[in-house]
Amino acid sequence: AGGELTDRFGRRIHYVRLSITDRCDLRCVYCMSENMRFLPRNQLLTLEEMARLGRCFSELGVTRIRITGGEPLVRRNATWLFERLGETPGIRDLALTTNGSQLRQHAQALKNAGVKRINISLDSLKPERFRRITRLGDIDKTLDGIEAAIRCGFERIKLNSVILKNRNHDEILDLTRFAIDQGIDLSFIEEMPLGVIADHDRAEAYYPSDAIRLDLERAFELLPTTETTGGPSKYYRIAGTETRVGFISPHSHNFCGDCNRVRVTAEGRLLLCLGQEHSVDLRRALRANPCDDAPVKQTIVSAMDLKPRGHDFNLSGQPLVLRHMNATGG
Ligand code: GTP
Ligand code: 5AD
Ligand code: SF4
Repeated sequence: AGGELTDRFGRRIHYVRLSITDRCDLRCVYCMSENMRFLPRNQLLTLEEMARLGRCFSELGVTRIRITGGEPLVRRNATWLFERLGETPGIRDLALTTNGSQLRQHAQALKNAGVKRINISLDSLKPERFRRITRLGDIDKTLDGIEAAIRCGFERIKLNSVILKNRNHDEILDLTRFAIDQGIDLSFIEEMPLGVIADHDRAEAYYPSDAIRLDLERAFELLPTTETTGGPSKYYRIAGTETRVGFISPHSHNFCGDCNRVRVTAEGRLLLCLGQEHSVDLRRALRANPCDDAPVKQTIVSAMDLKPRGHDFNLSGQPLVLRHMNATGG
């Protein structure tokens, strides 16, 4: 039966972010602590279970699925899942968020599977700084991945830059020029405090979106748009270019009132909000009902009542949510 997911605040949920692994080949300073422990592989949903969840969600009115991680492309056979989701009726927007390091090898297969939009993390154009922020990254691999994606002709490619004061805020204009040269979009993101990261002071690193906008306006004219992907990003078009610049501002411009989404972690926990603990165990529902989707869908429908009004991020002191971003699914 077709359906509609609506929460207690009347927000329609038609977008799911599905994390397919908590692992990653990088260790970005805002995302992970230095020595992360990852989930044992036997705790993860299988790709078949994820494809099944995709069908359940689509039958409940979900039209957009974004695959996240960790780094999705480190999961073996990830392409198989993209193919299944790409042929799931009702899913009209299949998207991927990636760090780009292995995108060159996968770009064409992703395009063939029906992926429409790809977001690629890029916080610096300086090789050494890129390495310091990602702890393990090689910028050439990410740049190769970006180039390959552009060549494949996805509907929309967007760079994501988490801006950290005194770490990369001096690159706001260069990152923007790079996006303009490539003819792609770019979002600037305020760091969100998930999990304890010992070597990183989030209050000190806070660089608000309005400061970024002022920096940009020294060099570019920003034209407001009403364009939205239904996500948190507020977009402007850069006059005279193909590029849209987005701002994801969890601290300075709260967007929870318009939330249209839920996420599923790699172990099958349905998280009702990125910044809160409210969740239900879909893995158990899937495994208890191997041949019948109705109870799984009922579990999803009931979970909507648990969706909180929004996050309560604090930048100083202990973070309220101890789960790191890689285990949350962006
Ligand atoms: P679309 O919404 O699909 O257009 O993409 P996006 O830009 O939201 O997704 P992406 O995976 O590139 O994430 C960019 C940033 O937005 C990351 O830092 C995410 O954690 C953040 N983000 C995405 N959705 C939410 C949300 O519902 N709440 C919060 N607080 N942050 C979000
Ligand atoms: N706050 C904000 N954005 C984050 N990302 C990872 N960790 C954080 C964080 N703590 C970003 C990545 C990627 C996207 C999925 O989320 O840079 O672009
Ligand atoms: Fe990996 Fe993405 Fe987290 Fe960076 S932000 S460590 S690329 S999951």
